[in-house]
Amino acid sequence: MRAHEYRRETEAVRGGTARSKKNGPLSTPIYQTSTFEVVDNNQQVRATSTDTFYTRYGNPTSTVVENAIAELEGTEASLLFASGMAAVTTSILALVKRGDHVVAQRDIYGGVNKFLVQWLPKLGVETTLVDTIEYEQHQKAIRDNTKLLYLESPTNPTLRIVDLARAAAIARRHNLISIIDNTFATPMNVRPAEFGIDLVMHSATKYLGGHSDLIAGVIAGRQELIDEIHDTRTTLGACMDPHAAWLLLRGIKTLAVRVERQNENALRVARFLDGHPKVRRVNYPFLEGHPQHRLAKEQMSGGGGLLSFEVDGTGHDARRVVESLRLFTLAPSLGGVDSLVTIPILTSHGMISSAERQKIGVGEQLIRLSVGIENADDLITDLEQGLSTLVTAPPQAEMARS
Ligand SMILES: Cc1ncc(COP(=O)(O)O)c(C=O)c1O
Repeated sequence: MRAHEYRRETEAVRGGTARSKKNGPLSTPIYQTSTFEVVDNNQQVRATSTDTFYTRYGNPTSTVVENAIAELEGTEASLLFASGMAAVTTSILALVKRGDHVVAQRDIYGGVNKFLVQWLPKLGVETTLVDTIEYEQHQKAIRDNTKLLYLESPTNPTLRIVDLARAAAIARRHNLISIIDNTFATPMNVRPAEFGIDLVMHSATKYLGGHSDLIAGVIAGRQELIDEIHDTRTTLGACMDPHAAWLLLRGIKTLAVRVERQNENALRVARFLDGHPKVRRVNYPFLEGHPQHRLAKEQMSGGGGLLSFEVDGTGHDARRVVESLRLFTLAPSLGGVDSLVTIPILTSHGMISSAERQKIGVGEQLIRLSVGIENADDLITDLEQGLSTLVTAPPQAEMARS
């Protein structure tokens, strides 16, 4: 843990950058170079462990962003990756060896589920999936060879909330390294390191970048763990390009205002959907009826910009609704300024088995919204017209086509 010198909003804008007076550019320069020149071989040797050696090892633009994210998450260090998946896979590979075991929540991003359940066994590492909020199950699944506890909160796409202090305590008691995917919450809404979680991961493609224009990942935590992961990143090569790092830094500067607006918009949209006769269920942690509403309010300063809901109808109905939306763009991904809509069984959860999907309540009627920073009334009007397609039965020809 590192102490916060400033509040989150200030850290988002000024984090990572030197705050001493200087004569120089305000914006961080992009070191668009693969390598760095040295004056002699002694300096060459010294450069190896710095960010001015070779960009796969590190780069000064990336260092600024890594410092900015560490400041925001309140961790000693952080490390950038070419994608969120690169951050997860490289970090896990750095921390486990053949014969180790991982305990992971059942509701996690589909790509991570696939890595844990289908890929890690090829390397002799087993994973047990447990019910996300049944902590007894977490305890029971832990074995002598368990090394990691993998968490995500709020979960994708069901928006369940993990009790971070409880999960961190379980990990500590059993000497496990806890990792959480904090993509949905962002450090604006929750900082898991404050609850004792060891490593905080983000698909920085989402809220941290914020404009749906780059693919990026990050892991933040104690220096000693980050050093181990850095060594593996250098070997596997999943580093971030300096220009992408600069775009990410620019995105982070507006994180606070974007997330504040997304929190407000998503709550308004959730309330609207909750009262709609064609909606069976709405998943949003700051909605009073959410099963973990109290925990969410205690743990988070905002409910986030993501929500999901089930239409009162069939999978075809859900598809019809999303296709008739005009402002919510039909696209995977989330966390950008533009509102997006997707059907999880076709995108984020398309790669996991339908039996697993059933266990976490991801059915064909479920629609996920990533609420952007547009005017909330316009977004609600769009949903109103989209859902109105369910009130009148579709023409027979359309039914046959879909
Ligand atoms: C919650 C979450 N974690 C991780 C990832 C993977 O990140 P990336 O697409 O940047 O590799 C995603 C991607 O959608 C995600 O939604």
